[in-house]
Order: sequence, then structure tokens, then C-alpha cells
Amino acid sequence: YRLCLCSAQAASLFCTGCFSVLHKLRLCSTPVPSFWCPPCETVLCQECTLSEHSEHSTIPLKDAMDQSKTTLQEQLGAVRRRLPEIDSALRVLMDFQQQLTTQKASIEEDIHSTFEEIQKTLNVRKSVLLMELEVTYGLKQKVLQGQVSNLLHDQEEIHSSCSFTEKALEEGSEDEKLLVMKEMPKRLGELTSQEFPLQPQENDQLDFHVETECLKKSIHNLGTIVTTNAVAYETEASGEGLQQCVVGQSNSVTITTKDKDGEPCRSGNANLTAEIFTPDGSVADGEILDNKNGTYDFLYTVPKEGNFTLSLRLYDQHIKGSPFKLMVIKSADVSPSGDGAKKRVKSPGSGHIKQRAVKRPASMFSTSKKKENPIEDDMIFRIGTKGRNKGEFTNLQGVAASPTGNILIADSNNQCVQIFSNDGQFINRFGVRGRSPGQLQRPTGVSVHPNGDIIIADYDNKWVSIFSSDGKFKTKIGHGKLMGPKGVSVDKNGNLIVVDNKACSVFIFHLTGKLVTKFGSRGNGDKQFAGPHFAAVNNNNEIIITDFHNHSVKVFNSEGEFLLKFGSNGEGNGQFNAPTGVAVDNNGNIIVADWGNSRIQVFDSNGSFLSYINTSAEPLYGPQGLALTSDGHVVVADSGNHCYKVYRYLQ
Ligand SMILES: *[C@@H]1O[C@H](CO)[C@@H](O)[C@H](O)[C@H]1NC(C)=O
Ligand SMILES: *[C@@H]1O[C@H](CO)[C@@H](O)[C@H](O)[C@H]1NC(C)=O
Ligand SMILES: *[C@@H]1O[C@H](CO)[C@@H](O)[C@H](O)[C@H]1NC(C)=O
Ligand SMILES: *[C@@H]1O[C@H](CO)[C@@H](O)[C@H](O)[C@H]1NC(C)=O
Ligand SMILES: *[C@@H]1O[C@H](CO)[C@@H](O)[C@H](O)[C@H]1NC(C)=O
Ligand SMILES: *[C@@H]1O[C@H](CO)[C@@H](O)[C@H](O)[C@H]1NC(C)=O
Repeated sequence: YRLCLCSAQAASLFCTGCFSVLHKLRLCSTPVPSFWCPPCETVLCQECTLSEHSEHSTIPLKDAMDQSKTTLQEQLGAVRRRLPEIDSALRVLMDFQQQLTTQKASIEEDIHSTFEEIQKTLNVRKSVLLMELEVTYGLKQKVLQGQVSNLLHDQEEIHSSCSFTEKALEEGSEDEKLLVMKEMPKRLGELTSQEFPLQPQENDQLDFHVETECLKKSIHNLGTIVTTNAVAYETEASGEGLQQCVVGQSNSVTITTKDKDGEPCRSGNANLTAEIFTPDGSVADGEILDNKNGTYDFLYTVPKEGNFTLSLRLYDQHIKGSPFKLMVIKSADVSPSGDGAKKRVKSPGSGHIKQRAVKRPASMFSTSKKKENPIEDDMIFRIGTKGRNKGEFTNLQGVAASPTGNILIADSNNQCVQIFSNDGQFINRFGVRGRSPGQLQRPTGVSVHPNGDIIIADYDNKWVSIFSSDGKFKTKIGHGKLMGPKGVSVDKNGNLIVVDNKACSVFIFHLTGKLVTKFGSRGNGDKQFAGPHFAAVNNNNEIIITDFHNHSVKVFNSEGEFLLKFGSNGEGNGQFNAPTGVAVDNNGNIIVADWGNSRIQVFDSNGSFLSYINTSAEPLYGPQGLALTSDGHVVVADSGNHCYKVYRYLQ
């Protein structure tokens, strides 16, 4: 209960019923509090409503109570409605805690096994050295000991001959003296002129050289625990490429990671993902560069005009302002692409990749799963639409064909590999999200080993996974060596050819995981790569690599020595605009997916252009992996259209 505020007069009386101080000298006769005065925020008896509060609009106390109860209940509702937010935040936090605990356990295991392995290696080396020492020492000692015994024997011989002779001469009978004089001169003469093994037949060198400084330094810096304090809601993106960009030109967005207090993070390795898409699902090609100082550059090229959405996610959460609306316009100085004969006008200073614009009705690919070719180009059939189910794809990349008549697809964003028969029947898929040990993160390359194993390049896991032919995870190789494996192939010795796109190198591994050799570095030289994507191996065991950013195809022998290259940037015959998938047939003909020109070209084994595969009826859109099926057709991942297509060629 409050003081009556109705006038400035001094309070001088107290209404015991209303429990309120009144400013007029008056006592209420029946002081029962049954009214409420809103301006004074006080309860009143009826008399007070007629006197001191007569100017005020008082209401019955019950009504006031009801009204305030309703208000309170509304407020309760509003407050309670905040609980789900908190619940879901708690769930996320608990997930994180759980995830951290799991990660910690798995890293602990990794650390233990890594060091146990090193210790094992060290112990093996130690035993080998000790054994070598023992053997070397033993051999030398044996030689020297043999020599010592011989000399001792000779020494004894001399002593005994001398003492025998002397004794006989001094103390012997006449007969004995005669015998000695007859026999001994020859023997003593022999001993006098005999060659004794006086030169040491071995040397006394036994040293141990060991250089441990480098090793110690390496061990000192062995392994790092990688993480950041970056949070998505503070992380910002900037740059011209954030709102508007020009078709085919390379655009850049800089992302600055920040911690919970908005302070910039200074270290790299945060989990950042970028995705550009349109309502009909097309994606552009882009790459995130880690500047290792807390900033990241997202470089991307969009193949066609339109309104796109750019999602930038840090640890799976949208960063500030994401998703961004992206308007992609056609630049005035880029001529529309024609039949390949027309030269493209290059806009100044653009070190970019332009993808040939392909017109297609959005509804064209939306329904049937398998589609026979209605217009006669070289296509035989097409499988798949965008989606997450069996026989559907999201950004498929690598393709392989098994000798047993299967087609394997690395379904990159669905994190699985799908297997089909040569005629397009879905057979199996594996790797679909779960917590299995062989979880695929971003499968980009796939190949089939002659022993039936399925080899998968996992770009984000930075290793190559090996699965049995029925999809059971067996092992991983290249862990700790690879930076971003994109394509994978198998050579004639059963070794794995792994194209490390990030490291711009090609690794050759034995199936056991032992590194056989490695070649290539970043650059435009013959033995370098500017962005290697996929590999194929021909019957001479030569390795054929597509170099996306050098717009060429390079051929090496099995030791990694450069043999030949072909292709340059352009739209003419034999030119490329970022080559991706590659396959080679039994005659050595090389089939190359030309990503930016959205076409497939065929070359002979010397790299001379032979022909195109006719894809005019249902144009490709950013083709990626490519393989030859066991029945002699070309299968290509039509990535932008989220399907794969099978073609006849050279017919
Ligand atoms: C981070 O590294 C990039 C590339 O080296 C550089 O351009 C940028 O200025 C650096 N940023 C900071 C905040 O150091
Ligand atoms: C993109 O959006 C703008 C404005 O919302 C609109 O004017 C334009 O026609 C759209 N462009 C395309 C290709 O859809
Ligand atoms: C990045 O985060 C996403 C979502 O949390 C996860 O699926 C993916 O495996 C992470 N990638 C890497 C390379 O850690
Ligand atoms: C490709 O096939 C279509 C349909 O049969 C045909 O009209 C066109 O001339 C072919 N293109 C070439 C270059 O052969
Ligand atoms: C590709 O590499 C060659 C040298 O092997 C170089 O002359 C050429 O400029 C490079 N092409 C591009 C587009 O970088
Ligand atoms: C490739 O070149 C070599 C040497 O010039 C030649 O002998 C061979 O016939 C050529 N191969 C093809 C398929 O043209």
C-alpha cells in the first residue's frame, strides 16, 4: 500500500481499513478495502472513493485483481516461451561438450598410438644397430683372434725348436747331437725364413655416428593440438565478392574470425565452409584459403548470371550477415560463348575461369530418375537428380568403373559413395552419415583396386579411405601426408595414385600405405601443377593428370618423370577452360572433362585432339570426374546438374 498522492497536502491521517495515509482529517466509518485507485496505485474503501479519490477513476478491487492476474499470466506465458530457446542452446552446448570429450578421447588415443609407433620404430632401429654392432665386432674379432692363434703357434714352434736344439747340444748323447745336427738346420732354416702373419689382418676401427639434433628438433615440434576460439556470431566477412560479381570472374571474400569478445583470432585452421547456390540447386566452384592468421579468403567463380545465395558457416553456424544475397551479372566485355570457334575477349587482369553459360529450363531435370535420350546426341542415359536419397546426388565429383560392370560415384556433399550397375540400376551406397570409423567427410575421388577394394580420396579428411567391395571400411592411408586429395587412380602395379589438389603434388602409395614416391609442386612448370584434379593411368603405366588452373593435361612415367603435356586456355579444339575428369582407353586415347567449357574432348595418346563427345541435347554443367565403363562407354559426373551421364564415344 502506498501513500495517497492525490494532492500536495500533507498527510495527516491514516485509514486503518485502506492502510493508507490520507491528507484530510477524516476517519472512514466502514473501512473495508474494496476499491483500487490506479493513479495512486492504492486500495481504498468505498468512502475514500467518494472523498479523497472522488476525482480519480477508481475500480472495484476484484476487477483490478482479475485484470492484473490476466496481465501476470500473459507475462508468465511470454517468459515461459523463452525456455525453448534456452533448451535448444543448452542442447547445442551439451552437444559441444560431448563432442569435445569424444574428440579428446580420440586425440588421446591418436597421441598414444603415434608415440607407441615411434617408440616401436625406435626400438626396432635400436635392435638393428645393436645387432649390426655385434656382428661387425664378432667378424673383426674372429679375424684378429685367428691371427693371434697363428702367431702364438708360430711363437711356440720357435721356442720349442730352439730349446730342443740347445738342450740336445748341451746335454744330449753323441747320437742325439748327431741327429740334431742332421735334422735341425733344415727346420731352423725354415723357421728363420718363414713368413709370419705379422701385419694386422683387420683394423681397430669401430665407430658410431649418429645425428640426433634434427630428429630431436622434429620430435620437439611433433604434433599440434589444433583449435581456435572463433565463434560464428562475431565472425565477419567483407570484400567486393560479397554482394555483386561478374560471371566467370574470380571473386574474393575475406572472412575475419573473432572470439566471443569480438577480438580477432590470430590462428588458422578454423572449420569454415562456403556454399553458393540458386533455388534450383546449382553450385559454383570455390576454394577457401586459410591465411593462418585468423583471416580466410574465399575465392570463387560463378558460371552464370542470376541471384545466388552465399552461405558462410563457421563450425556449421552462419557467420554475421550470412546467408548473403549475391547478384551475378554478365560483364559487358565478355562475349557470349559460341561454338568454340569464336575467341573470347578476356577482361583485363582477370586470372579467372569462365564457364560456358548453358541455357536449360529449370524443370528439365526435376522428375524421372533414369532418362533415355530423346534427341540423338551421344548420350545413352542419365541417372539422378539433386537430393539426399539413394540414387540422388548433391555435388557429385569422382567417378569410377569396375571391371565387374559397376559404376561408382563419389557423392561429395552427401558424404557417401553410391554404386550402380552399368545400366544404371542402383545397387548400394555406403559412408552415409553416422559415427562409423570410416566416416567420409568430402569424398571427391574414387577408384577400384584390381583386388576389388574401393579407394576413396577424402578432401576434408585429408586422407584416402579403403573400403572392401561390399562397403566395409578397412583402413585409411596418407593421414598426415596429404593436404587435400581430390582424385585417385590405381596403376598397373596396384599402387595408388593420389592427386593432392591443395599440395599441388601427386603421391604414389603402396596399398599398405607406404609412400612409394611423390612428385610435383605448386607452379606453372612442366613438373609442377597449378591445381591438379584427377588422374588416369594408361597401359604403359604412365600417369595422366589434369591441371585445372594451368588448363592443361600432363603425362608422367611411373617414376614421376615428365613426358608430355597438352592444352592451353581457350574454347578452341584441344583447348581447355579448367580440365577436371580424365580417363584413358585401351588404345591410349585420353578423354578429358572440360569443366569451364562444359564439354568432353577426346585426344590420342600423344595429346592430339580427335573429337568431342556430342552433348548438345542435354548440355553438361561443370562436369567433374570421368571414367570408362567395362562396356566401353564414358561415364561423367555432371556435377552442376547433380546427375551422371553415360555416353558413347569415337563411333
Ligand atoms: C593475414 O594474412 C594475409 C595473407 O598473408 C594478409 O593479407 C593479411 O593482411 C593478414 N591479416 C592480418 C590481420 O594479419
Ligand atoms: C535478381 O533480383 C533482382 C532484384 O531482386 C531482379 O531485378 C532480377 O531480375 C533478378 N535476376 C535474375 C536473373 O533473376
Ligand atoms: C566442419 O564442420 C562440419 C560441421 O560441424 C563437419 O561436418 C565437418 O566434418 C567439419 N570439417 C572438418 C574438416 O573438420
Ligand atoms: C550433335 O547431335 C545433334 C543431335 O543429333 C546434331 O544435331 C548435331 O549436329 C551434333 N553435333 C555435332 C557437332 O556433331
Ligand atoms: C601453364 O604452364 C605453362 C608452362 O608450362 C605456362 O607457359 C602457361 O602460362 C601456364 N598457363 C596458365 C594459364 O597459367
Ligand atoms: C605418337 O607419336 C609417335 C612419335 O611421333 C608416333 O610414332 C605415334 O604413331 C604417335 N601415336 C599416335 C596415336 O598418333
